[in-house]
Amino acid sequence: MVVHLLLLTDNKLSIDKGWFSDMWKVEVRKMKPGDKESIRQICCETGFGGKHIEVVFSDEAMFADMVTLYYTDYEPQSAFVARFEGETVGYLTGCLDTRSYNRVMKSKIVPRILLNVIRRQYCLNKKNRRYLKEVISHLLKGKTNLPLENYPAHLHINIRDGFRGFGIGRELISRYLVYLSDNNIKGVHLVTTSLHQDSLSFYEKLGFEIYARSETYSLGSREIYDLIYVRSVIISS
Ligand SMILES: CC(C)(COP(=O)(O)OP(=O)(O)OC[C@H]1O[C@@H](n2cnc3c(N)ncnc32)[C@H](O)[C@@H]1OP(=O)(O)O)[C@@H](O)C(=O)NCCC(=O)NCCS
Repeated sequence: MVVHLLLLTDNKLSIDKGWFSDMWKVEVRKMKPGDKESIRQICCETGFGGKHIEVVFSDEAMFADMVTLYYTDYEPQSAFVARFEGETVGYLTGCLDTRSYNRVMKSKIVPRILLNVIRRQYCLNKKNRRYLKEVISHLLKGKTNLPLENYPAHLHINIRDGFRGFGIGRELISRYLVYLSDNNIKGVHLVTTSLHQDSLSFYEKLGFEIYARSETYSLGSREIYDLIYVRSVIISS
């Protein structure tokens, strides 16, 4: 599927009214192995409420390992990218079965990250240690139980600054919903935070509903909370 855009200046885009539709095209397609690095890069560029994660955490490799490694290395068939002029400008990483995601995180990814910590392959300066402590303490406090029976799949989506608001996110979600339907998955959930205020109306426009809200907690000197959204999937066959 192709989204038509018109490039203006400085990576700012405006919706193509049809005049140059064959010249400027955003292609939404399944992830290929060569997209891995750009997915890792975009997750860092957008990792703190749509802004670069460096505001609170300076090791891009460690952040990308924590946030994307499962999707790029263990379930790449459920990931989609949006490409403009040969570059990735957004992605959706997905998982059909969150229980198997949890198993792989526990048995493969967390041990791999811990090994990298022991081998001093990440920068664990004061700022980064503080961020990790806040995240781990939030996770240990016990999250709201996810509604995995009815909404077993989940997703993450991020679009590069300058490419937002032009229908790319909508197209990525539509592609993913068709993919879920084709795989007989009846529901999808996602976890976001109050830091991502902009994304909340986006999810609501696309048919997601709030399932639960967490207690408030601290992250990077801000008081925030998590929101779990859910959406049913219409199975076509
Ligand atoms: C949130 C995000 C994925 C949305 O993707 P997008 O390509 O910008 O959104 P689209 O242009 O496809 O918008 C689809 C619909 O959502 C609405 N929407 C999108 N962003 C919105 C915003 N900031 N405020 C209000 N509505 C918004 C649009 O109006 C559009 O509805 P319409 O077609 O009826 O006009 C993208 O802006 C983004 O990556 N933001 C920064 C990172 C982030 O927050 N990621 C989510 C982490 S949980």
